[in-house]
Amino acid sequence: MAEQFGVTAAPSGEADTEPTSPFLRACRGLPTDRTPVWLLRQAGRYQPEYRALREKHSMLEVIQTPELAAQVTLLPVDVFGLDAAIVFSDILPPLVGMGLDLDFVKGDGPRIGNPISTTRDVDLLGTPPAEETMTGTLEAISLVCRELGHRDIPVIGFAGAPFTLASYAIEGCTSKDFSRTKAFMFSEPAAWKRLLGKLVTVQADYLLAQAKAGARALQVFDSWAGRALGREDYLRYVAPHNRELFARVAGAGVPVINFSLGVSSYLTEAAGCGGDVVGLDWTTPLDEAWERLGFERPVQGNLDPASLLAPWRELELRIDDVLERAGGRPGHIFNVGHGLVPHTPVDSVRRLVEHVRERTS
Ligand code: CP3
Repeated sequence: MAEQFGVTAAPSGEADTEPTSPFLRACRGLPTDRTPVWLLRQAGRYQPEYRALREKHSMLEVIQTPELAAQVTLLPVDVFGLDAAIVFSDILPPLVGMGLDLDFVKGDGPRIGNPISTTRDVDLLGTPPAEETMTGTLEAISLVCRELGHRDIPVIGFAGAPFTLASYAIEGCTSKDFSRTKAFMFSEPAAWKRLLGKLVTVQADYLLAQAKAGARALQVFDSWAGRALGREDYLRYVAPHNRELFARVAGAGVPVINFSLGVSSYLTEAAGCGGDVVGLDWTTPLDEAWERLGFERPVQGNLDPASLLAPWRELELRIDDVLERAGGRPGHIFNVGHGLVPHTPVDSVRRLVEHVRERTS
Protein backbone atom coordinates (compact mmCIF):
# COMPACT_ATOMS: atom_id res chain seq x y z
CA MET A 1 0.00 0.00 0.00
CA ALA A 2 2.73 2.40 0.95
CA GLU A 3 4.27 2.15 -2.51
CA GLN A 4 0.96 2.55 -4.24
CA PHE A 5 0.44 5.98 -2.69
CA GLY A 6 4.01 7.09 -3.08
CA VAL A 7 5.15 6.81 0.53
CA THR A 8 8.85 6.10 0.62
CA ALA A 9 10.53 4.03 3.30
CA ALA A 10 10.54 5.68 6.70
CA PRO A 11 13.89 7.07 7.77
CA SER A 12 12.96 6.10 11.32
CA GLY A 13 12.17 2.58 10.17
CA GLU A 14 8.56 2.99 11.34
CA ALA A 15 7.14 1.85 8.00
CA ASP A 16 9.13 -1.38 8.24
CA THR A 17 7.61 -2.56 11.51
CA GLU A 18 3.87 -2.85 12.03
CA PRO A 19 2.60 -0.18 14.42
CA THR A 20 0.51 -1.24 17.42
CA SER A 21 -1.62 1.90 17.85
CA PRO A 22 -5.08 1.39 16.29
CA PHE A 23 -4.91 4.83 14.65
CA LEU A 24 -1.56 4.18 12.94
CA ARG A 25 -2.65 0.68 11.93
CA ALA A 26 -5.81 2.06 10.31
CA CYS A 27 -3.70 4.71 8.51
CA ARG A 28 -1.93 1.80 6.82
CA GLY A 29 -5.08 -0.19 6.10
CA LEU A 30 -4.18 -2.85 8.69
CA PRO A 31 -6.86 -4.61 10.78
CA THR A 32 -7.49 -3.18 14.27
CA ASP A 33 -9.22 -4.65 17.33
CA ARG A 34 -11.57 -1.62 17.34
CA THR A 35 -12.17 1.43 15.17
CA PRO A 36 -9.83 4.26 16.22
CA VAL A 37 -11.41 7.65 16.91
CA TRP A 38 -10.21 11.23 17.16
CA LEU A 39 -12.05 14.46 16.34
CA LEU A 40 -11.27 17.56 14.26
CA ARG A 41 -10.96 20.50 16.68
CA GLN A 42 -11.01 18.11 19.60
CA ALA A 43 -9.32 20.81 21.71
CA GLY A 44 -11.24 24.05 21.82
CA ARG A 45 -13.93 26.30 23.16
CA TYR A 46 -16.48 23.57 23.95
CA GLN A 47 -14.14 22.53 26.80
CA PRO A 48 -14.42 24.58 30.02
CA GLU A 49 -10.72 24.00 30.79
CA TYR A 50 -9.79 25.51 27.39
CA ARG A 51 -12.06 28.53 27.91
CA ALA A 52 -10.49 29.12 31.34
CA LEU A 53 -6.99 29.06 29.83
CA ARG A 54 -8.02 31.47 27.04
CA GLU A 55 -9.27 33.95 29.68
CA LYS A 56 -5.64 34.32 30.70
CA HIS A 57 -3.77 33.88 27.41
CA SER A 58 -4.36 34.99 23.82
CA MET A 59 -4.66 32.38 21.06
CA LEU A 60 -1.17 33.21 19.74
CA GLU A 61 0.28 33.02 23.27
CA VAL A 62 -1.13 29.51 23.72
CA ILE A 63 0.22 28.44 20.32
CA GLN A 64 3.69 29.94 20.87
CA THR A 65 4.21 28.66 24.43
CA PRO A 66 5.14 24.96 24.21
CA GLU A 67 3.92 24.10 27.73
CA LEU A 68 0.51 25.72 27.15
CA ALA A 69 0.09 24.22 23.65
CA ALA A 70 1.05 20.78 25.03
CA GLN A 71 -1.41 21.14 27.91
CA VAL A 72 -4.29 22.01 25.53
CA THR A 73 -3.30 19.19 23.15
CA LEU A 74 -3.52 16.65 25.97
CA LEU A 75 -6.80 17.93 27.45
CA PRO A 76 -9.25 16.03 25.20
CA VAL A 77 -6.99 12.96 25.06
CA ASP A 78 -7.01 12.68 28.85
CA VAL A 79 -10.70 13.52 29.30
CA PHE A 80 -12.16 11.34 26.53
CA GLY A 81 -9.53 8.66 25.84
CA LEU A 82 -9.07 9.47 22.15
CA ASP A 83 -6.76 7.38 19.95
CA ALA A 84 -4.66 10.29 18.66
CA ALA A 85 -3.65 13.77 19.78
CA ILE A 86 -3.46 16.68 17.32
CA VAL A 87 -0.94 19.32 18.28
CA PHE A 88 -2.68 22.52 19.37
CA SER A 89 -1.91 25.25 16.85
CA ASP A 90 -3.63 26.67 13.78
CA ILE A 91 -2.96 26.54 10.06
CA LEU A 92 -2.15 30.28 9.91
CA PRO A 93 0.93 30.93 12.13
CA PRO A 94 3.41 29.82 9.40
CA LEU A 95 2.28 32.91 7.45
CA VAL A 96 3.86 35.11 10.12
CA GLY A 97 7.34 33.84 9.29
CA MET A 98 6.65 34.69 5.63
CA GLY A 99 6.03 38.34 6.56
CA LEU A 100 2.28 38.55 7.20
CA ASP A 101 0.80 40.04 10.40
CA LEU A 102 -1.64 37.61 12.01
CA ASP A 103 -4.06 38.10 14.85
CA PHE A 104 -7.05 36.15 16.15
CA VAL A 105 -9.79 38.61 16.94
CA LYS A 106 -12.31 37.51 19.56
CA GLY A 107 -15.60 36.51 17.95
CA ASP A 108 -14.27 37.47 14.54
CA GLY A 109 -11.71 34.79 13.63
CA PRO A 110 -8.27 35.26 12.10
CA ARG A 111 -7.11 38.60 10.58
CA ILE A 112 -4.10 39.39 8.43
CA GLY A 113 -3.11 43.07 8.89
CA ASN A 114 -1.15 43.38 5.62
CA PRO A 115 -2.86 41.14 3.06
CA ILE A 116 -1.33 40.55 -0.37
CA SER A 117 -2.71 42.72 -3.16
CA THR A 118 0.09 43.07 -5.72
CA THR A 119 2.60 40.79 -7.44
CA ARG A 120 5.35 42.68 -5.60
CA ASP A 121 3.77 41.64 -2.27
CA VAL A 122 4.19 38.03 -3.40
CA ASP A 123 7.85 38.59 -4.25
CA LEU A 124 8.49 40.12 -0.83
CA LEU A 125 7.25 37.01 1.03
CA GLY A 126 10.01 35.04 2.73
CA THR A 127 10.36 31.27 2.95
CA PRO A 128 12.30 30.77 6.21
CA PRO A 129 12.70 27.24 7.63
CA ALA A 130 10.15 26.06 10.21
CA GLU A 131 12.91 25.39 12.71
CA GLU A 132 13.44 29.16 12.88
CA THR A 133 9.84 30.34 12.85
CA MET A 134 7.66 27.57 14.31
CA THR A 135 9.73 26.58 17.35
CA GLY A 136 6.76 26.80 19.77
CA THR A 137 4.77 24.15 17.90
CA LEU A 138 7.80 21.92 17.25
CA GLU A 139 8.67 22.00 20.95
CA ALA A 140 5.04 21.37 21.89
CA ILE A 141 5.12 18.21 19.73
CA SER A 142 8.24 16.97 21.54
CA LEU A 143 6.63 17.66 24.93
CA VAL A 144 3.41 15.86 23.99
CA CYS A 145 5.38 12.89 22.61
CA ARG A 146 7.26 12.59 25.88
CA GLU A 147 3.97 12.65 27.76
CA LEU A 148 2.17 10.17 25.50
CA GLY A 149 5.00 7.87 24.41
CA HIS A 150 4.34 5.25 27.06
CA ARG A 151 0.61 5.19 26.18
CA ASP A 152 1.13 4.46 22.45
CA ILE A 153 -1.04 7.43 21.47
CA PRO A 154 0.43 9.13 18.40
CA VAL A 155 0.63 12.89 17.89
CA ILE A 156 -0.63 14.29 14.58
CA GLY A 157 1.12 17.30 13.08
CA PHE A 158 -0.66 19.44 10.49
CA ALA A 159 -0.48 22.28 8.00
CA GLY A 160 -2.79 24.15 5.63
CA ALA A 161 -2.79 23.44 1.89
CA PRO A 162 -1.56 26.24 -0.42
CA PHE A 163 -4.96 27.45 -1.74
CA THR A 164 -6.46 27.68 1.75
CA LEU A 165 -3.48 29.66 3.04
CA ALA A 166 -3.38 31.86 -0.08
CA SER A 167 -7.03 32.74 0.51
CA TYR A 168 -6.17 34.08 4.00
CA ALA A 169 -3.03 35.84 2.71
CA ILE A 170 -5.07 37.65 0.02
CA GLU A 171 -8.49 38.18 1.68
CA GLY A 172 -7.05 38.88 5.15
CA CYS A 173 -9.80 36.82 6.80
CA THR A 174 -12.16 33.89 6.22
CA SER A 175 -13.99 34.67 3.00
CA LYS A 176 -17.53 33.89 1.85
CA ASP A 177 -16.95 34.06 -1.90
CA PHE A 178 -13.14 34.16 -2.29
CA SER A 179 -13.56 36.95 -4.85
CA ARG A 180 -10.22 38.69 -4.18
CA THR A 181 -8.37 35.39 -4.24
CA LYS A 182 -9.99 34.35 -7.52
CA ALA A 183 -9.49 37.80 -9.09
CA PHE A 184 -5.76 37.57 -8.27
CA MET A 185 -5.57 33.96 -9.49
CA PHE A 186 -7.24 34.80 -12.84
CA SER A 187 -5.44 38.12 -13.45
CA GLU A 188 -1.93 37.28 -12.27
CA PRO A 189 -1.40 33.60 -13.07
CA ALA A 190 2.40 33.83 -12.91
CA ALA A 191 2.39 35.53 -9.48
CA TRP A 192 -0.27 33.02 -8.34
CA LYS A 193 2.15 30.20 -9.22
CA ARG A 194 4.97 31.92 -7.35
CA LEU A 195 2.72 32.46 -4.32
CA LEU A 196 1.57 28.83 -4.19
CA GLY A 197 5.14 27.69 -4.83
CA LYS A 198 6.36 29.65 -1.80
CA LEU A 199 3.53 28.28 0.32
CA VAL A 200 4.39 24.71 -0.74
CA THR A 201 8.04 25.29 0.20
CA VAL A 202 7.12 26.60 3.66
CA GLN A 203 4.40 24.03 4.41
CA ALA A 204 6.41 21.02 3.21
CA ASP A 205 9.35 22.08 5.34
CA TYR A 206 7.03 22.65 8.32
CA LEU A 207 5.37 19.23 7.96
CA LEU A 208 8.74 17.47 7.67
CA ALA A 209 9.98 19.36 10.76
CA GLN A 210 6.87 18.22 12.70
CA ALA A 211 7.59 14.59 11.79
CA LYS A 212 11.21 15.10 12.88
CA ALA A 213 9.97 16.54 16.19
CA GLY A 214 7.96 13.36 16.81
CA ALA A 215 4.63 13.66 14.95
CA ARG A 216 3.70 10.14 13.83
CA ALA A 217 1.11 11.25 11.26
CA LEU A 218 0.54 14.48 9.34
CA GLN A 219 -2.70 16.04 8.17
CA VAL A 220 -3.04 18.58 5.35
CA PHE A 221 -6.15 20.79 5.61
CA ASP A 222 -7.50 22.13 2.33
CA SER A 223 -10.57 23.78 3.78
CA TRP A 224 -11.47 26.26 1.08
CA ALA A 225 -10.36 25.14 -2.41
CA GLY A 226 -13.43 22.90 -2.73
CA ARG A 227 -15.71 25.70 -1.54
CA ALA A 228 -14.20 28.26 -3.91
CA LEU A 229 -13.50 26.43 -7.14
CA GLY A 230 -15.14 24.21 -9.71
CA ARG A 231 -13.32 21.13 -10.94
CA GLU A 232 -11.54 22.65 -13.93
CA ASP A 233 -10.14 25.57 -11.92
CA TYR A 234 -9.13 23.19 -9.15
CA LEU A 235 -7.22 21.04 -11.63
CA ARG A 236 -5.55 24.05 -13.21
CA TYR A 237 -4.76 26.34 -10.29
CA VAL A 238 -4.55 24.08 -7.23
CA ALA A 239 -3.92 20.40 -8.01
CA PRO A 240 -0.31 20.79 -9.32
CA HIS A 241 0.67 22.58 -6.08
CA ASN A 242 -1.11 20.06 -3.84
CA ARG A 243 0.61 17.23 -5.73
CA GLU A 244 3.95 18.92 -5.15
CA LEU A 245 3.23 19.33 -1.42
CA PHE A 246 2.22 15.67 -0.95
CA ALA A 247 5.19 14.47 -2.99
CA ARG A 248 7.59 16.44 -0.79
CA VAL A 249 6.13 15.14 2.49
CA ALA A 250 5.89 11.52 1.32
CA GLY A 251 9.54 11.24 2.42
CA ALA A 252 8.59 11.98 6.06
CA GLY A 253 8.08 8.26 6.68
CA VAL A 254 4.77 8.80 8.48
CA PRO A 255 1.23 8.50 7.07
CA VAL A 256 -0.23 11.67 5.58
CA ILE A 257 -3.96 12.48 5.70
CA ASN A 258 -5.40 14.53 2.84
CA PHE A 259 -8.44 16.39 4.18
CA SER A 260 -9.99 18.44 1.40
CA LEU A 261 -13.32 19.96 2.34
CA GLY A 262 -16.14 20.43 -0.15
CA VAL A 263 -14.60 18.45 -2.98
CA SER A 264 -17.33 15.80 -3.33
CA SER A 265 -17.87 16.66 -7.02
CA TYR A 266 -14.16 15.98 -7.70
CA LEU A 267 -13.20 13.73 -4.80
CA THR A 268 -11.04 11.35 -6.81
CA GLU A 269 -9.10 14.23 -8.36
CA ALA A 270 -8.51 15.88 -4.94
CA ALA A 271 -7.55 12.55 -3.33
CA GLY A 272 -5.36 11.82 -6.36
CA CYS A 273 -3.08 14.73 -5.38
CA GLY A 274 -1.61 12.48 -2.70
CA GLY A 275 -1.65 11.42 0.93
CA ASP A 276 -2.09 7.91 2.29
CA VAL A 277 -5.44 8.48 4.03
CA VAL A 278 -8.35 10.50 2.65
CA GLY A 279 -10.19 12.68 5.17
CA LEU A 280 -13.84 12.76 4.09
CA ASP A 281 -16.06 15.72 4.81
CA TRP A 282 -19.58 15.05 6.09
CA THR A 283 -21.50 15.78 2.89
CA THR A 284 -21.19 12.41 1.10
CA PRO A 285 -22.25 9.09 2.71
CA LEU A 286 -19.05 7.34 3.76
CA ASP A 287 -19.63 4.12 1.79
CA GLU A 288 -20.27 6.03 -1.47
CA ALA A 289 -17.15 8.17 -1.06
CA TRP A 290 -15.05 5.14 -0.08
CA GLU A 291 -16.23 3.14 -3.05
CA ARG A 292 -15.28 5.99 -5.39
CA LEU A 293 -11.78 6.04 -3.91
CA GLY A 294 -11.38 2.27 -3.80
CA PHE A 295 -11.69 0.37 -0.53
CA GLU A 296 -7.92 -0.24 -0.35
CA ARG A 297 -7.37 3.46 0.38
CA PRO A 298 -7.77 4.22 4.11
CA VAL A 299 -10.38 6.88 4.98
CA GLN A 300 -11.16 9.11 7.93
CA GLY A 301 -14.57 10.50 8.77
CA ASN A 302 -17.24 11.56 8.45
CA LEU A 303 -19.97 12.34 10.99
CA ASP A 304 -21.65 15.74 10.54
CA PRO A 305 -20.25 17.70 13.54
CA ALA A 306 -23.70 19.23 14.08
CA SER A 307 -24.87 15.72 15.03
CA LEU A 308 -23.27 16.32 18.42
CA LEU A 309 -25.85 19.06 19.02
CA ALA A 310 -28.68 16.51 18.67
CA PRO A 311 -30.23 14.52 21.55
CA TRP A 312 -28.36 11.28 22.31
CA ARG A 313 -30.87 8.99 20.52
CA GLU A 314 -30.37 10.91 17.28
CA LEU A 315 -26.59 11.20 17.71
CA GLU A 316 -26.37 7.45 18.37
CA LEU A 317 -28.24 6.65 15.14
CA ARG A 318 -25.92 8.91 13.18
CA ILE A 319 -22.76 7.39 14.68
CA ASP A 320 -24.12 3.90 13.91
CA ASP A 321 -24.88 4.98 10.35
CA VAL A 322 -21.24 5.99 9.77
CA LEU A 323 -20.01 2.72 11.33
CA GLU A 324 -22.42 0.64 9.25
CA ARG A 325 -21.31 2.37 6.07
CA ALA A 326 -17.68 1.67 7.01
CA GLY A 327 -18.78 -1.97 7.30
CA GLY A 328 -15.94 -2.97 9.65
CA ARG A 329 -13.45 -2.81 6.76
CA PRO A 330 -9.83 -2.20 7.80
CA GLY A 331 -8.60 1.32 7.14
CA HIS A 332 -11.41 3.35 8.74
CA ILE A 333 -10.63 6.08 11.30
CA PHE A 334 -13.77 7.47 12.92
CA ASN A 335 -13.90 11.27 12.96
CA VAL A 336 -16.21 14.19 12.32
CA GLY A 337 -16.36 15.50 8.74
CA HIS A 338 -15.39 19.05 9.82
CA GLY A 339 -14.42 20.68 13.14
CA LEU A 340 -16.49 20.44 16.32
CA VAL A 341 -18.40 23.67 16.91
CA PRO A 342 -17.89 25.76 20.10
CA HIS A 343 -21.28 24.93 21.67
CA THR A 344 -20.83 21.14 21.38
CA PRO A 345 -21.88 19.55 24.70
CA VAL A 346 -18.92 17.89 26.43
CA ASP A 347 -21.17 14.95 27.28
CA SER A 348 -21.90 14.28 23.58
CA VAL A 349 -18.16 13.97 22.90
CA ARG A 350 -17.74 11.60 25.85
CA ARG A 351 -20.66 9.39 24.77
CA LEU A 352 -19.55 9.40 21.13
CA VAL A 353 -16.07 8.09 21.99
CA GLU A 354 -17.48 5.45 24.36
CA HIS A 355 -20.05 4.35 21.80
CA VAL A 356 -17.59 3.94 18.92
CA ARG A 357 -15.38 1.90 21.24
CA GLU A 358 -18.23 -0.35 22.46
CA ARG A 359 -19.76 -0.87 19.03
CA THR A 360 -16.50 -1.81 17.33
CA SER A 361 -14.64 -3.81 20.02
O1 CP3 B 1 -7.92 20.40 17.99
C1 CP3 B 1 -7.52 20.65 16.84
O2 CP3 B 1 -8.14 20.27 15.81
C2 CP3 B 1 -6.20 21.38 16.65
C3 CP3 B 1 -6.26 22.78 16.52
C4 CP3 B 1 -6.73 23.50 15.26
C5 CP3 B 1 -7.23 24.83 15.30
N1 CP3 B 1 -7.41 25.27 14.04
C6 CP3 B 1 -7.47 25.57 16.55
C7 CP3 B 1 -8.29 26.79 16.52
C8 CP3 B 1 -6.68 23.14 13.90
C9 CP3 B 1 -6.27 21.82 13.28
C10 CP3 B 1 -7.12 24.27 13.14
C11 CP3 B 1 -7.14 24.30 11.67
C12 CP3 B 1 -7.75 25.44 10.98
N2 CP3 B 1 -7.72 26.76 11.33
C13 CP3 B 1 -8.40 25.35 9.73
C14 CP3 B 1 -8.57 24.08 8.94
C15 CP3 B 1 -9.68 23.24 9.46
C16 CP3 B 1 -11.06 23.79 9.23
O3 CP3 B 1 -11.71 24.10 10.23
O4 CP3 B 1 -11.48 23.88 8.07
C17 CP3 B 1 -8.81 26.65 9.37
C18 CP3 B 1 -9.55 27.03 8.11
C19 CP3 B 1 -8.36 27.53 10.39
C20 CP3 B 1 -8.50 29.01 10.43
C21 CP3 B 1 -9.21 29.46 11.64
N3 CP3 B 1 -8.67 29.47 12.91
C22 CP3 B 1 -10.51 30.01 11.71
C23 CP3 B 1 -11.44 30.20 10.54
C24 CP3 B 1 -10.72 30.33 13.05
C25 CP3 B 1 -11.91 31.08 13.60
C26 CP3 B 1 -13.12 30.26 13.63
C27 CP3 B 1 -13.27 29.68 14.98
O5 CP3 B 1 -13.55 28.48 15.07
O6 CP3 B 1 -13.13 30.48 15.93
C28 CP3 B 1 -9.59 29.96 13.80
C29 CP3 B 1 -9.39 30.08 15.25
C30 CP3 B 1 -9.15 28.79 15.99
N4 CP3 B 1 -8.31 27.80 15.59
C31 CP3 B 1 -9.71 28.43 17.26
C32 CP3 B 1 -9.18 27.18 17.60
C33 CP3 B 1 -9.42 26.38 18.85
C34 CP3 B 1 -10.62 29.28 18.10
C35 CP3 B 1 -9.74 30.21 18.87
C36 CP3 B 1 -10.31 30.70 20.16
O7 CP3 B 1 -11.10 31.67 20.11
O8 CP3 B 1 -9.94 30.17 21.22
